[in-house]
Amino acid sequence: MNRRKFLQWSAFTAPLLAYKTTGNIEKPIVVSTWDSGMPVNAEAWKILKEGGKSLDAVEAGARYIEDEINCCVGLGGYPDRDGIVTLDACIMDENANCGAVAAVERIKHPVSLARKVMEKTPHVLLAGAGAQQFALENGFALEPAILSKDAENAYQQWLKKSEYKPVINIENKKENGPFAPPFFEDGSANHDTMGLLAIDAQGNLSGAVTTSGMAFKLHGRVGDSPIIGAGLYVDNAIGAATSSGVGEEVIRICGTHLVVEYMRNGYSSQMACKKACDRIIQRDREKAKQIQVGFLAINKQGEYGAYAIQKGFVFSVKNSKENKIVPAKYFFG
Ligand code: GLY
Repeated sequence: MNRRKFLQWSAFTAPLLAYKTTGNIEKPIVVSTWDSGMPVNAEAWKILKEGGKSLDAVEAGARYIEDEINCCVGLGGYPDRDGIVTLDACIMDENANCGAVAAVERIKHPVSLARKVMEKTPHVLLAGAGAQQFALENGFALEPAILSKDAENAYQQWLKKSEYKPVINIENKKENGPFAPPFFEDGSANHDTMGLLAIDAQGNLSGAVTTSGMAFKLHGRVGDSPIIGAGLYVDNAIGAATSSGVGEEVIRICGTHLVVEYMRNGYSSQMACKKACDRIIQRDREKAKQIQVGFLAINKQGEYGAYAIQKGFVFSVKNSKENKIVPAKYFFG
């Protein structure tokens, strides 16, 4: 094939290769991490089904879970080793506008604060005391510095040994209700991160992430969740991805940016997530066997997929035809 013919051929077929799809594709759509994504998706869906913007939908979904006091996301989440809850969140729209806050204390809706950073400042990420100051200047209330009952119990248990030992994140909390933090008798750490990705009726993609991060972390530790390209990435021409699990391993590989780049190169959402997990495993297989990382992605056409290092990662899907929890495929388990 000469060069001209090749260019003509690739101009015609590249989009088909890039958007190789599987399963049902129905837009608008919202997908989110974990089974606690079901009510989160329902909240986002209220906006999407009326033709609203995906950015508003993901913010509304994230706010919903931040309001849930018995959850590992938001102010009800587990504290750091000093007994302080610090929150991370970010948001990104179809024009690569993005905002994030990290290690922010006593602010109920970090996702909305992240959106304020995006819309009202020339910056992308505000952290710690500066993020809180910005919140107060913009009408956010300072919430009391108290732990939820579950978080207090878990912290008291953890204090007995004071070991930082993340356990593998799995969907294991049915017996405690859909929003309860996983509670371990030995006080070992676990957490949930809520990541949402949505495509609206106009075909535009947005994403948001909110978390209290790894339980019993060092004070000031920031994970992948508020880092654009690690915990969340949106490219409106290609797709979007989010992550859950041990944030340090996701940051090392710029995880969600990598997933989107794999989709750009023609991989399905699920295969792109699988390849990103494999990148972590290739770096240190023995370490990877001890940790959880899960990626969730959706491409421009609405084909979703996920993959995790360990068994037990699930995600939630909502569109006009589906409303379900899907177990992700995995490497070890
Ligand atoms: N993935 C959330 C965190 O590491 O904090």
